[in-house]
Amino acid sequence: MPNDERLQTGKPAKVRLAVLVSGSGTNLQSLIDRSRQGFLNGEVVVVVSDRPGAYGLTRARDAGIHGHVVDYRSFMSGPLPAEPEEEVLDALDRRQRILKETDPSRRRSKLKRLVAAESAMIRILSAYRPDYICLAGFMRLLTPYFLDHWNREGDLRVINIHPALLPAFPGEHAYRDTFQYGCKLGGVTVHFVDEGEDTGPVIAQGAYPIWPYDDLERVERRGLQLEYEMYAQCVNWLAAGVLELEPTSSGRRRVIIRDPDYRRILGRWIEKVFAPHPDTWRRG
Ligand code: GRF
Repeated sequence: MPNDERLQTGKPAKVRLAVLVSGSGTNLQSLIDRSRQGFLNGEVVVVVSDRPGAYGLTRARDAGIHGHVVDYRSFMSGPLPAEPEEEVLDALDRRQRILKETDPSRRRSKLKRLVAAESAMIRILSAYRPDYICLAGFMRLLTPYFLDHWNREGDLRVINIHPALLPAFPGEHAYRDTFQYGCKLGGVTVHFVDEGEDTGPVIAQGAYPIWPYDDLERVERRGLQLEYEMYAQCVNWLAAGVLELEPTSSGRRRVIIRDPDYRRILGRWIEKVFAPHPDTWRRG
């Protein structure tokens, strides 16, 4: 049973969540469980995976939630799709910050393939009318084509959870990178997705201790406990409409959360990960 607080029913209305996964889907499971136990003002209405064998799909099926596969591997090979036309591709290529290939023709064909996969995802997702697209261990980078479909000025609708204190350790192996760097605090960031990799406006961050005798597995387990609680809280904040996006002179947008309980909630996260008795982290 989660230790976050149960919500009053019906207030505010539940948001419809589409969850994108690639792997085990424990964050997905946590959202499903919290929703069913009354801790989440959100409902998972569809799950999409980029891999046919992702365990997240089994979790969806077991929970009676529709799951779909958009097999990215098949999109990334085979004949090059005809769409989008050159002009549209040019505009996307100028904005995207995820593809690092310097050779323009290789970069553009990769972009084209990604857009084809995304357009298949958009077709599936649209049928479920999601309010938010939640990435939960989705190991693919999204282009502005996908983001534009869901985002409106001042109303961003694609969110991600990343297991590091961004902008430190972006990318696929953030727990490992944090641990191997020798960090004494690890962290979790929930953020809106933008045109870069793990660079979008930060919604929430939480930190956990890395004790002297920890190993990577234990660090990851501790971090995931924080992830589950934080992701649910961010969905609740979105549902409550308490987020504001404030432009800053750096060009980045800053998220401000107007919740009278903000301090208490952050304190609870910290308490949760610092509280366990030191005996549980001592060697042997
Ligand atoms: C989590 O650590 C999440 O932060 C990252 O990928 C991992 C997914 O784990 N983006 P799971 O599939 O939810 O178990």
